[in-house]
Amino acid sequence: MADETTAADIVAQLEALEREAHDRLEQFTAESDLSEWRTDYLGRSGKVTQLLRGLGGLPKEERPRVGQLANTVKARLAEALEAQQAALRRGQHAETLKAEALDVTLPGAPVRMGQLHPTTQILNEILGIFERMGFMVVEGPEVEWDRYNFAMLNIPANHPARDMWDTFYVDADPTKNFGSMLLRTHTSPVQVRIMENTPPPVRIVAPGRVYRNEATDASHEAIFYQVEGLAVDERTSMADLKGVLTAFARDLFGANTRVRFNCSYFPFVEPGAEVSISCHVCGGDGCRVCKHTGWLEVLGCGMVHPNVLEAVNYDPAQYAGFAFGMGVERIAMLKYGIDDIRYFYNNDIRFLQQFR
Ligand code: DAH
Repeated sequence: MADETTAADIVAQLEALEREAHDRLEQFTAESDLSEWRTDYLGRSGKVTQLLRGLGGLPKEERPRVGQLANTVKARLAEALEAQQAALRRGQHAETLKAEALDVTLPGAPVRMGQLHPTTQILNEILGIFERMGFMVVEGPEVEWDRYNFAMLNIPANHPARDMWDTFYVDADPTKNFGSMLLRTHTSPVQVRIMENTPPPVRIVAPGRVYRNEATDASHEAIFYQVEGLAVDERTSMADLKGVLTAFARDLFGANTRVRFNCSYFPFVEPGAEVSISCHVCGGDGCRVCKHTGWLEVLGCGMVHPNVLEAVNYDPAQYAGFAFGMGVERIAMLKYGIDDIRYFYNNDIRFLQQFR
């Protein structure tokens, strides 16, 4: 029988064997063992090797060609085996990943978010309104000299107007160059500091903390915030003051807000005024918030006193200005109906959280 085997037969058998091997290889799944297949086709007594045994019966000159083909087939099958192994490993890897996947949709432990303090929030709102009208935000020191806090603001030593501000003195020595050192009682000294160093025109708002030596109650704190405003130019008039403050009040409290200017006294302005807005709770009819007057006092203002302009070497004949000052917490209290200023400093989270 062996004698009758031709080269063509062996080639045909090799081809059939390769197809069969490929077919079987493809049927393997992730869990199956490929070693049996390896033994069957590539092993030392595997099917390819067995076929090669028939080579001996071929004429000598045909043996190398068929032998070479057999080796190529073996090499291709070895390659296919490797590829299949790799593919199965990849599949297994994917399965493992799937099985071991973290459920990242699990809700995390809640993180408590902080927020800006209501004073900071309302302060930012106030400053934003004036910035949009062309005012620049500037700051001054909280520990101040008598000279800036009082003297240059047309409040000379021993003037009865000093009683308007109960002052904390850091160093009460009036013989010093700039007088006693104190905690500023208002942000008005920033006006003077700016004008002293800047030629007109100036247009500034000065936010900051101020200090008053007084007993605290629902409407008084020893520490609070103010915003000071100042505009100086040629021909600046009371009409500019009224226009700017009316725009401010309507921006902050609503477009229907009415604004009232009452004569008042502050040493650094002439004339001086107190600004009230129509009560935004009752619309002016009278309620608990406006103490049944229909009006809420929001700030003090006026035309910069010529003595103040002269003190900073501005010529009162050439320049005029207006100034205003407001309490930041007071504005927040009016806007949100808060009835006790001490809430702002108690650090009670139940209060603070209402201003998210
Ligand atoms: N500085 C004043 C105060 O603390 C507030 C004030 C009133 C400021 C009138 C001004 C102003 O600039 O013109 O009570």
